Amino acid sequence: METILLNPTSDPYAVDRAAGLLRAGEVVGMPTETVYGLAANALDPAAVGKIFAAKGRPQDNPLIVHIADAEALERICHDVPEGAKRLAAAFWPGPLTMVLPRAPHIPDIVTAGLPTVGVRLPAHPVARDLIRHAGVPVAAPSANLSGRPSTTTSAHVLADLGGRIPAILEGGPCEVGVESTIVSFAGALPRLLRPGGVSLEQLREVLGEVEIDRALREQLGDDVQVSAPGMKYRHYAPKAPVIVVCGAPEDTAAYISKHLTNETGVLCFTEFAYLFEMHEMRTMGTAADPLTQARRIFDALRQFDETDVHEIYTQCPADEGIGLAVANRLKKAAGFKVVNVV
Ligand code: TXA
Ligand code: MG
Repeated sequence: METILLNPTSDPYAVDRAAGLLRAGEVVGMPTETVYGLAANALDPAAVGKIFAAKGRPQDNPLIVHIADAEALERICHDVPEGAKRLAAAFWPGPLTMVLPRAPHIPDIVTAGLPTVGVRLPAHPVARDLIRHAGVPVAAPSANLSGRPSTTTSAHVLADLGGRIPAILEGGPCEVGVESTIVSFAGALPRLLRPGGVSLEQLREVLGEVEIDRALREQLGDDVQVSAPGMKYRHYAPKAPVIVVCGAPEDTAAYISKHLTNETGVLCFTEFAYLFEMHEMRTMGTAADPLTQARRIFDALRQFDETDVHEIYTQCPADEGIGLAVANRLKKAAGFKVVNVV
C-alpha cells in the first residue's frame, strides 16, 4: 500500500479526502497538539481493527475516542460527574483525556471490553476539522508502531507506518510533544493514570484531591491489574537500552560523564551539551524548560536509532508541571532502569 501525505496548506481538499477515507472504513494519520494519532471511525469495529493491525498493538489495550465538540461527550459516555465537567470546561480543547462510563453503542474493540471509555477533545485545528468532516467520533492511539516512541511529526509517522496505512494528514510538528494527561473517573476519587500536557498541579486546582496510579512510579508485572492497560507494556523504546539518571542537573551530568564509553549516547539538558560533544549527544532543552523537553524527547529518542550507540544515558527533569510527564516517558523508555544520584 502506498501512503499518501495530505497537506491542508497546499491542498484545499486534504481534510475532505482524509475524512472520506475515515467514512470508508480506513485509517488515517492525524495531527494533534500532543502527538500524531492513527485515526479510524470509532463506531466501525472493522475500521478500528485496522488500527490494531497497522500498529501491531495488543487487543487488550483500549483506544481514546476523539470528539470535535464538548457536547459530543454525552453521546460517548453516561453519568458524567461534576468534576469531569469542570475539567472539560477548564482544559478542553486540549491535552486531557477523561475515562468515564461508556455509552452502550461504543464497540468493545475500542474499550477492550472495559465498562469505561477514554474521551478527548483535541485542540489542533486540523484534528477538529477532520473529526467534524468525518461526522463520527474518532478512535486514535498514538501513530507509532507498538512499543516505539510516539510520533510528533508526519515524517515520524511515515517512518513507522509508511506502507501500512493509506494516508497521513499533515499538521506540522506537535506543540505539546507528549501525549494527553489521562484522568479516570471510574473510582471514588479522580485518578491520574498518565501524566501529560495538563499538569497534576493544574488538575488539583480544579478537582482538589487527585489520586496517582501506581503504574506511574514503578514497572508493573504481568500479574498486576492495571487501570490503563497501556501502562504495562514497554513503551517509547529506541533500539538501544536507556538508563535514566535522576537528581540535581549538575550531579546527573557529572555522573553521566564519569560512566560513558565511546558507544554511549547522551540525551542531556542544553546547558551541559559541552560535556558530551565527543559523543552521540542530543539536547532536550534547558533543565528549567520542561515544555521544550516535552516537544523534543520523542524525536531525540528516535534519532538514536540512526546511530550505532549501544546504550543511552539521559538526564531527567524534576517531577513538577509537565516535567512529571517527561520523566514518566523517559523512565518508561528505560523500562524503569533508573539511577538516583544524591
Ligand atoms: O495525546 C493522546 O492521548 C494521543 C493522541 C493521539 O490523542 N493518544 C494516545 O493514545 O496517546 P494511546 O493509545 O497511545 O494511549 C492511550 C492510553 C493507553 O495507555 C490506554 O491503555 C489508555 O490510554 N486507555 C484508553 N482507554 C482507557 C480506558 N477506558 N480505561 C483506562 N485506560 C484507557
Ligand atoms: Mg501510545
